[in-house]
Amino acid sequence: MSSKSAIFVFAAFVLALGRAKIYDRCEFGRAIQTYGVPADQVAVWTCIAQRESNFDTAAVNWSSGDHGIFQISELFWCSTGDTPGGGCNARCAQFEQDDIAEATACALYIYSQMGFTAWTTYLQYCNGDVSSYVAGC
Ligand SMILES: *[C@@H]1O[C@H](CO)[C@@H](O)[C@H](O)[C@H]1NC(C)=O
Repeated sequence: MSSKSAIFVFAAFVLALGRAKIYDRCEFGRAIQTYGVPADQVAVWTCIAQRESNFDTAAVNWSSGDHGIFQISELFWCSTGDTPGGGCNARCAQFEQDDIAEATACALYIYSQMGFTAWTTYLQYCNGDVSSYVAGC
């Protein structure tokens, strides 16, 4: 391996470790639809994700124990250990990945149990006109 390609591999490795994908607003809306979110809910979920994490897949609130782009709570929905647990039978770390398939599946499960009010940001910011969150997408 040349030293240039060695540096490239090293840089790619560092980037992979520091994984933290920030979704674009419209990209987020498209992604969650491919993972099962109905079209008429996209604006509300986009509002929630922006308010909870600013679309940062790696967001963690260590004081509340909330994880990922939807800030899913370790108190109820996932396990911080190596074994999956909580209502979503998952590891919280799964909700911090670039790929938001698992985070979205858990968010939909939470919604099925509690509705959008499971997210405090919903009542604060996202239960009115949320059309601006999908405008231009
Ligand atoms: C983290 O959670 C605490 C407790 O719910 C909250 O007061 C705080 O605003 C949160 N921090 C961020 C950055 O969201």
